[in-house]
Amino acid sequence: MAKEPARVLVTGAAGQIGYALVPMIARGVMLGADQPVILHLLDIPFAAEALNGVKMELIDAAFPLLKGVVATTDVVEACTGVNIAVMVGGFPRKEGMERKDVMSKNVSIYKSQASALEKYAAANCKVLVVANPANTNALILKEFAPSIPEKNISCLTRLDHNRALGQVSERLNVQVSDVKNVIIWGNHSSSQYPDVNHATVKTPSGEKPVRGLVADDAWLNGEFIATVQQRGAAIIKARKLSSALSAASSACDHIRDWVLGTPEGTWVSMGVYSDGSYNVPAGLIYSFPVTCCNGDWKIVQGLPIDEFSRKKLDATADELSEEKALAYTCIN
Ligand code: NAD
Ligand code: LMR
Repeated sequence: MAKEPARVLVTGAAGQIGYALVPMIARGVMLGADQPVILHLLDIPFAAEALNGVKMELIDAAFPLLKGVVATTDVVEACTGVNIAVMVGGFPRKEGMERKDVMSKNVSIYKSQASALEKYAAANCKVLVVANPANTNALILKEFAPSIPEKNISCLTRLDHNRALGQVSERLNVQVSDVKNVIIWGNHSSSQYPDVNHATVKTPSGEKPVRGLVADDAWLNGEFIATVQQRGAAIIKARKLSSALSAASSACDHIRDWVLGTPEGTWVSMGVYSDGSYNVPAGLIYSFPVTCCNGDWKIVQGLPIDEFSRKKLDATADELSEEKALAYTCIN
């Protein structure tokens, strides 16, 4: 029997990530090839005409899984009945700007959209915040939607995770699909810690640790980390626009694994509400290694953390605590 359509909200749907993301969702990349979808697209009145153009193109593409499109500038209509909410709407970082510069613009957006989601979304709606500062926007959303379970609110660090997989695969000249279990700890910002200490590569003679195969600690502890941390800025420099196709694809990966589960023996990185695991302060949205099963994520426990890593986990936690404090000063 055909499944009931899932309602998927994309905010900022007239923007560049939205434009890359909605066809992926309509093709089944996010929720599976047997899951019909109804897309709810939200943008601001200034972008209403462009949003309507996106709706027209979605109709023209005749996606078999797409059972309807609600394109609106009304946040209540957009949030009503949604099962998945991908929050992309906001003000993007421009060349030369730090993420903190966009904080105040985004805090007020996330506060009001939290209330709409809390009131009108389907019970058990899963929320993914993409818009920067992603961790802190997700935290604001959580704080102002107290009846949405904290397990249902997350932010995107899967793009950083995928960037780390990509760097290792390029360095070792192996298929990216053979590399797994990198970790992004902390903030989706240049303070994040891309960690390869537990990562492996599938080889004809079994799974081998990335550290052993690369055999260049200076690269792994230096250039690799900096490249992943700075990749967003490098894309902005090259494109004069922030990443879009890779962000959209990673958002699909994030929701797909959350809903459908991570493969056996594999973890992914998600920004989730910290519970004190790995001595990260509770009450931050912090990126951890997680496994997903039956629609729930669980932080991978018990990984050994060396002194080098400890400092980096703490530094990115400190930045998130500062962002949290700054965000609260922007709330009115
Ligand atoms: P964009 O400017 O092209 O699109 C943003 C859209 O949001 C615009 O259409 C704008 O009109 C809309 N918008 C603004 N305020 C809104 C509101 N209150 N409600 C609904 N829509 C609203 O930007 P983009 O390149 O698509 O990037 C979107 C966000 O994603 C930015 O914050 C960017 O920094 C962030 N980003 C995050 C990641 C990540 O990995 N977490 C990666 C790339 C980009
Ligand atoms: C990215 O990582 O590509 C985005 O978050 C854009 C940015 O500001 O770095």
